[in-house]
Amino acid sequence: MLDRPLRVCSCGHFKASCDVAELKGTVTEVNMADQIPFVALDAVLKESGALPEDMPQIRGYDFNQGVDHRALLHSYLTTGFQASSFAMAVQEINKMIDRRLEPVEEQEQTCDSQQSESGCTIFLGYTSNLISSGVRESIRYLVQHKMVDVVVTTAGGIEEDLIKCLAPTYLGEFSLPGKELRQRGINRIGNLLVPNDNYCKFEDWLMPILDQMVLEQKTEGTCWTPSKMIHRLGKEINNPDSVYYWAYKNDIPVFSPAITDGSLGDMIYFHSYKNPGLVLDIVEDIRRLNCKAVFAKNTGMIILGGGLVKHHIANANLMRNGADFAVYVNTGQEFDGSDSGARPDEAVSWGKIRMDAKPVKVYADASIVFPLLVAETFAHQASKLTSHKESD
Ligand SMILES: NC(=O)c1ccc[n+]([C@@H]2O[C@H](COP(=O)([O-])OP(=O)(O)OC[C@H]3O[C@@H](n4cnc5c(N)ncnc54)[C@H](O)[C@@H]3O)[C@@H](O)[C@H]2O)c1
Repeated sequence: MLDRPLRVCSCGHFKASCDVAELKGTVTEVNMADQIPFVALDAVLKESGALPEDMPQIRGYDFNQGVDHRALLHSYLTTGFQASSFAMAVQEINKMIDRRLEPVEEQEQTCDSQQSESGCTIFLGYTSNLISSGVRESIRYLVQHKMVDVVVTTAGGIEEDLIKCLAPTYLGEFSLPGKELRQRGINRIGNLLVPNDNYCKFEDWLMPILDQMVLEQKTEGTCWTPSKMIHRLGKEINNPDSVYYWAYKNDIPVFSPAITDGSLGDMIYFHSYKNPGLVLDIVEDIRRLNCKAVFAKNTGMIILGGGLVKHHIANANLMRNGADFAVYVNTGQEFDGSDSGARPDEAVSWGKIRMDAKPVKVYADASIVFPLLVAETFAHQASKLTSHKESD
């Protein structure tokens, strides 16, 4: 029989003042209806195995410290859930930056003269909608200051940047009815609105450039690829608000193998009736992209969203037996077997991320997370990252 009382713990559980082993014998013997069954006690009071001493303890931000946004973001590491993943992504990107800042020894032989100039070649990928959104400005900052080396995006991720130089995108609402918007010639991207006139302006701007590209192809033998076309568009837009203006200025290659899946494709289609013959070669581009990975000293992947941009970067990194660092920010789930939703560990199985890497996936909307990630990494280390480059 129990000769010591049971206390109620602060969490509401009964807590024996004697150990469970002692209770076992006593309770089994007695088996009285007014005693706590051992099976319940044994289940609730199961002894813990030891946890590592250095394991972080959960503790969030204390607003008694005042409103300190940096301290708040630092507290995310010990906040748990996606807050901790965010903090781990900050650490992973800062590792890319540290490696990037290490001096690089004499270059080994490279293909296509694509020499790796940094200790860590950073691949940045993002879905089209992020350029439609204000994440564009964070991306532009990174490209403007040569903080990334290779960019991959989809067609909308190219044209929406250029179109924004011609006319603005507006904040609307997710709930605006499609039928009414269509009648008014307004297109919706989530809660963003793009007037159809923007695309008409884009057509007026683009057509003479396509004419010129066809001319150069025919008279100078230029072999156009999506990356060369984007380079040219960046030159022509000549606007410092544009991601691709800076990619052109800084000679950062931008790959978009499905460049025709958007307004650019519509324009290329219409143009092919007026002035046929333009050829875009994706073979030259895949070689150029893969060489960027193969001949890099180390590589880091920062991939916002899924689909083509995620896989295209990861596949290039397969060519070097995996990226050294990786951060994914996306909302995709893995239960459907999609590449978009696959966790980094799936890419490890394919050799697209190294086995000893510590990749991080943040399950979140990149429009919230990415500007904060840039703030805590590239922007915070801007003086170190740009000191040797601004003099170029
Ligand atoms: N503005 C546009 O979105 C736009 C414009 C023109 C053409 N398109 C075309 O639509 C096609 C599909 O677009 P896509 O491949 O760029 O991506 P997508 O919009 O199909 O997104 C792919 C996946 O990325 C993830 N994702 C998307 N937005 C995210 C966010 N804000 N935060 C976190 N995760 C996010 C989701 O898991 C999503 O399923 C492309 O061929 C593109 O050119 C898009």
